[in-house]
Amino acid sequence: MARNNFIIAIDGFSSCGKSTVAKALAKQLNFVFVDSGAMYRAVTLFFLRHKIDLQDTAAVLNALEQIQIDFVPHTEKTQLLLNGEDVSDEIRQMEVSASVSEVSAIKEVRTAMVAQQQKLGQLRDIVMDGRDIGTTVFPEADLKIFMTADPDVRAQRRYDELTAKGESISMEEVKANLAHRDHIDSTRSESPLRQAEDAVVLDNSDLTQEQQLTLVVDEYLKRKSL
Ligand code: DC
Repeated sequence: MARNNFIIAIDGFSSCGKSTVAKALAKQLNFVFVDSGAMYRAVTLFFLRHKIDLQDTAAVLNALEQIQIDFVPHTEKTQLLLNGEDVSDEIRQMEVSASVSEVSAIKEVRTAMVAQQQKLGQLRDIVMDGRDIGTTVFPEADLKIFMTADPDVRAQRRYDELTAKGESISMEEVKANLAHRDHIDSTRSESPLRQAEDAVVLDNSDLTQEQQLTLVVDEYLKRKSL
């Protein structure tokens, strides 16, 4: 069945600024913004709290059944609720970042999240960012962007973000976490991070947020007028 809504998929490495572009884009175009990484982070937080053995498929499936994830839009930021609890800040902490790639490599976790993400894209115009949005979640997306940036630029951005929130962390730890996540995200067997053939590549190492937004809006307008 033909869709009437417009889907924008933004994929790329960790800390490339995907969510920043996706959020600004959603605001400008009046689209719904969905941060799919936040969903994997919420699952990871639940698994950590309940000490779920990642090798135990039955335990993983059972835990997934107990997880309800909701996005609540506010003017300033979107809240992420895990079983009704606002965990928007907690899911950004280093403990979650250190385990999220392992959790998101589990087949059962991906199946559950992809199904929820596809549901979110059924009705409204949507911008979703992640790793496999243009390849697996919405292979028929109307616009696909693949974002990338120099690893040192990404590490600096992530370091600034975490220290601004008061986390005490070294640049070496941030670099090691990013390298670790890049490796797992792009080598896992279940929908690894890769560029969709029809994606527009956006290397934002030397671009301001305004420049990035302009580039993506231009791509949107080109497709919208087709
Ligand atoms: O975008 P992020 O850094 O918040 O994502 C957290 C982790 O979730 C990331 O290391 C990989 C995983 N992820 C994924 O496997 N698939 C997605 N669509 C989004 C995120």
